[in-house]
Amino acid sequence: MNTIEIKSGIFWVGSIDFQLRHFHGYTFDTPEGTTYNSYLLKDREITLVDGVWGPFTNQWLEKIKSLVNIGQIKNIIVNHIEPDHSGSLTEIIKLNPKVMIYGTAKCESGLAKMYGLRNLNFKIVKTGDEISIGEKTIKFLEAPMIHWPDSMFSYIPQDKLLLPNDGFGQHWATKQRFDDEVDLDKLVNQTKIYYAGILWPFSAIIKNKLAEIESLGWEIEMIAPSHGLIWRKNVDKIWNFYKKWSDQETEKKAVIVFETMWGATEIMAGKMAEGLAETGLKVKVMDVNKFSRVEIAKELFEAKAYMIGSSVHDNGVLPNMSALLYYIKGMRPAGRIGMAFGSYGWGPTGTGEIEKFMIEARIEKAMGSYNVQFTPNESEMEKCREIGKQFGKIIGKA
Ligand code: FEO
Repeated sequence: MNTIEIKSGIFWVGSIDFQLRHFHGYTFDTPEGTTYNSYLLKDREITLVDGVWGPFTNQWLEKIKSLVNIGQIKNIIVNHIEPDHSGSLTEIIKLNPKVMIYGTAKCESGLAKMYGLRNLNFKIVKTGDEISIGEKTIKFLEAPMIHWPDSMFSYIPQDKLLLPNDGFGQHWATKQRFDDEVDLDKLVNQTKIYYAGILWPFSAIIKNKLAEIESLGWEIEMIAPSHGLIWRKNVDKIWNFYKKWSDQETEKKAVIVFETMWGATEIMAGKMAEGLAETGLKVKVMDVNKFSRVEIAKELFEAKAYMIGSSVHDNGVLPNMSALLYYIKGMRPAGRIGMAFGSYGWGPTGTGEIEKFMIEARIEKAMGSYNVQFTPNESEMEKCREIGKQFGKIIGKA
């Protein structure tokens, strides 16, 4: 795919990774692939903002070479050192050793440790610093833990363009590059999946960063993240969504998430969903083996209440449920309520594991657990339905 001029003199030179399915090493966390967005600024000083993942280096260099000679590049802005954006740096620095790199102090030390890139022409920048590259100025804003310690945002006031790296991004490989070229509901949903799967634990930091940008008075008419589509028509809309998400507002809905060995816990989940639905609340039922972890994370991010079920396995929960609980604990969910359920053969020990997770994740236990030996009979299924109904009433009052 060719380069695209996104603003006068600013070109997208990124890569589209249609095949990626295992981002961060997590299984099937990018069911729609992703893009690695990199931007070339053709001004008096030719400047690159961010790179691409290592395997895409050659096609990235070809795109850049269609616009300028590599040796003409004066500056590279490194907003974030994670390999999906920095994996191509070693090669371009080899081709152009005099290039000046701009990044945070953590960026400099991180590049040294990650790639052995030492003794670079490196200029550490901080919030409030700016450089003039000709007609354009690049302002820097440190953004630690959005989502790594080295992260920063760049802003070009002449173009009212924010370059927030992972912020406002989505893992969605498409040939389209702008928000107004794709289905907006799908785009917002993809952005929310990205937020829930990666940025959720940093919500308080993101909330403060949005307020900081507003207090700086930066006018923004385009947000060009380093993954996915560029926001040009719906900047206010996605900004307001980010504000809402970083507030961690929840919906009065329940997610029933479960893993089942021989089907009994699934039957329990289904009956609980029937009871919940009777209270008029929205409910989503998710088998951990049928949805990607990020899809489940997005639903959990939205919901006020969780019903978590697993068959007992080696006195605990099944392995994929265990992995999900570990992942969600890291998301530090706030203000949620939950309950545990599951089927067992020899002893009802799985729900104890789930309740331990709830304590560690600070999810309030709204009801006692419910355990059924082997397959639920008629009265146990009725009890599941009744528990769903009771839980729904609790959510309604929460
Ligand atoms: Fe897209 Fe944190 O790297």
